[in-house]
Amino acid sequence: MDAPILDTYRAAFVAALAQSLSLPVTEVDPQVKPAEPAHGDFTFPTFPLARAQKKAPPAIAQGLAAQTKVEGLQVVAAGPYVNARLLPQPFTGQVLAQVRAQGPRYGGSDAGRGRAVAIDYSSPNIAKPIGFHHIRTTFLGHAIANLYRANGWRVEGINYLGDWGKQFGLVAVGFQEYGDPGRRKEMGHLVEVYVRANKRAGEEPAFDARARDFFRQMEAGDPQALGLWREFRDTSLDGFKKVYERLGIHFEHYDGESLYQEQMDAVIDEVSRTVGVKVSDGALVVDMPPKDNEPPVLLKKSDGSTLYATRDLAAAKDRYERFHFDLSLYVVAQDQALHFRQVFEVLERMGLPWAKRLVHVNFGRIHGMSTRKGQVVMLTDVLDEARARALEKVQANLAAGKMETADPEKLAEQIGLGAIVFGDLKNRRTTDYTFDWDEVLEFDGHTGPYLQYAHARACNILRKGGGAPSGWDAGLLVLPEEQALVREVARLPGAVQAALAENEPSVVARLLLDVAAAFSRWYTLGNQDRDKRVLVEGEAHADVRAARLALVDAVRNTLSSGLALLGISAPENM
Ligand code: ARG
Repeated sequence: MDAPILDTYRAAFVAALAQSLSLPVTEVDPQVKPAEPAHGDFTFPTFPLARAQKKAPPAIAQGLAAQTKVEGLQVVAAGPYVNARLLPQPFTGQVLAQVRAQGPRYGGSDAGRGRAVAIDYSSPNIAKPIGFHHIRTTFLGHAIANLYRANGWRVEGINYLGDWGKQFGLVAVGFQEYGDPGRRKEMGHLVEVYVRANKRAGEEPAFDARARDFFRQMEAGDPQALGLWREFRDTSLDGFKKVYERLGIHFEHYDGESLYQEQMDAVIDEVSRTVGVKVSDGALVVDMPPKDNEPPVLLKKSDGSTLYATRDLAAAKDRYERFHFDLSLYVVAQDQALHFRQVFEVLERMGLPWAKRLVHVNFGRIHGMSTRKGQVVMLTDVLDEARARALEKVQANLAAGKMETADPEKLAEQIGLGAIVFGDLKNRRTTDYTFDWDEVLEFDGHTGPYLQYAHARACNILRKGGGAPSGWDAGLLVLPEEQALVREVARLPGAVQAALAENEPSVVARLLLDVAAAFSRWYTLGNQDRDKRVLVEGEAHADVRAARLALVDAVRNTLSSGLALLGISAPENM
């Protein structure tokens, strides 16, 4: 696959400067920064050279600019800076050709070929209400998995279901009291039962004891208890799988916590041999020097039951043995930072060389997410509400003649899901944000529907213009708005690399907003000036029209591959 074009020009500028200065490329490289658009594309400040050269920075810049020649770049001095601007050609032609050649893969690379990444994401707790964090990990994890895949990595996506624990005891004993036998196979009903049983357990110790007892039977391998557990688990999993299907999410593995039950003794044994264990307040804990007031890592409670941390130790080892990962990500809320810091440290102290490859990809909170039904308890409720709200908008737009679609229901599903997924992913993951239904569904804000609309708009122009041209003269794309748009299109591969480096899909989300904004500035020019129309009329303008259609097609391609990376669908009509 060809290298990102902007990177290639930047590297050529760096190399030419390094040569003019007789400095190593590695020294010049970090100094070259993106320029303010008015000044060009790349800029190099000369202040740091003033002392060594005993010259004023503007004089240095003058000399350097005169000496530095790069094909396709115009290099000029501006005060103390050496600025480089991409000449419209061959840059424009190269970008359009690259997008066309790569098609749906545009933005990706094969940089990760031969490497494997394990990604633990979504990982809901079965038969319990979901929390805001399950929503974020689902969207973020999906986008991150897509980004790695698009860069040639082997991705092992793992849904580490919370499928072991007292909640099953609560559902089991709760079912005897509140369950409707006819609704045993309904995920929502199980959650309702759990919520009532959990409340009662808080008020009535005897009831709580019954639930604990049930879980103890599960841990002891009682066939009847395990049979019921399996049934509840299957019911919940069927419910979750419907949600994943709607979102286009596919996990390579559904490996829940229960998978590691049998391995608890072996792990505890290994920890005790390598790091050491001790008894503290009746519980078994890892014996390592305490850090400022941090609680110790619990391996086993005083009643003998094992814990979250113990299971994560076993799971990490199992993942390494199965996948030989180069990187293992845990897409989990910031609230669990201490847990992961400690688990990673124990693994490192156990002498496992791959422990350094584990990364907690943390994220902040969502405030204020509720549905018309009230508090969010199931992810389906959020998706259903998104679809319902989108449908109201779609119908209003259809009635006003502002939209066209053969299938309003399907479109509403695409818009609704796009709205909440993008509403989440446009935020840097570590920041908290406040969720607002009206805001995420806005058609002209920083939203998913806005991007989907821009994409549909591009498709529509292409349809009217007779499709993407097979040949074009990129030299005809001379309007400043066209040049600005080509640059945004050219930024996708770099944005994907940056997103990958930080496990931060928002970088791609924001670039797509820039693409859509530049696109809209360009195609609305035609409202004032007929000659600037994308589908400019007349035989004499046929070449300009073909070049503009090629640019529209590149925009369409950039938006659809970018949205696909984020896990958002791009309708062709809306
Ligand atoms: N089920 C957990 C929860 O809902 C998240 C699991 C995250 N992954 C892990 N390996 N601990 O909080």
